[in-house]
Amino acid sequence: MENASVSSAQLSQWSAEQFVIRTLNSSDVQNVRALHTELVPSAPALRPAFFHQFLTHPTHLCLIATLPSSDKPVACIAVSVHVPTSDLTTKRTALPPVEVHVLALGVLPAFRRRGLATRLLYTATAHLRALATKAPQLPSKHTTACSSTRIHSDVSRADSTARAFWKHVGLLEEEKVAPHYESWAGGWRDVVSVAGPIASAA
Ligand SMILES: CC(C)(COP(=O)(O)OP(=O)(O)OC[C@H]1O[C@@H](n2cnc3c(N)ncnc32)[C@H](O)[C@@H]1OP(=O)(O)O)[C@@H](O)C(=O)NCCC(=O)NCCS
Repeated sequence: MENASVSSAQLSQWSAEQFVIRTLNSSDVQNVRALHTELVPSAPALRPAFFHQFLTHPTHLCLIATLPSSDKPVACIAVSVHVPTSDLTTKRTALPPVEVHVLALGVLPAFRRRGLATRLLYTATAHLRALATKAPQLPSKHTTACSSTRIHSDVSRADSTARAFWKHVGLLEEEKVAPHYESWAGGWRDVVSVAGPIASAA
């Protein structure tokens, strides 16, 4: 990959703040699909339509991180805001937190452990909340109120790195009575749901 030409001496100096983080655009789709395949080779290749929803839908957002010298993504995050249906019946109760689902998150191995996934998560959450205030799918009261943000994601039970990451940002694993499996390439994988509140954007 082009970015691998950065020397390891240079890389060791990089901190999360030095990466460029920007919204996915249509010309990134091919590269970000390739990135996802590189990050999770065991997963089915994501179809272009998965990424197209982030280009058009105000309740969905995909951010990519690049080196300043390149347009190629070294990391990405895809999030969506959960659209509640209970707003018609719970007018007298406190507003629920805005729930953000993390659909994909990954950083190339050479760029890990410098806070990039953490920065992407906080940036995406803040950006999506702002975007969602204009989304007709969400009641304005829900998105403009100073409600907290709750993050939700599913992670492979065997992925100790991802589980350590979610623990680091304060999410708790939800124990389910029955094992939680989801359809995966070549069969099913055992997943753990993680969820919890997250502080406002760092
Ligand atoms: C999980 C992943 C996104 C983390 O990316 P990252 O940029 O390295 O994460 P950060 O640097 O923000 O890590 C924050 C904290 O998470 C924890 N963490 C991250 N990777 C870890 C590891 N390999 N072992 C133990 N703890 C780890 C640490 O507490 C870390 O803080 P520290 O570096 O100060 O100790 C990355 O490893 C990855 O892309 N994995 C493959 C794809 C994947 O599994 N995605 C699923 C996520 S749902």
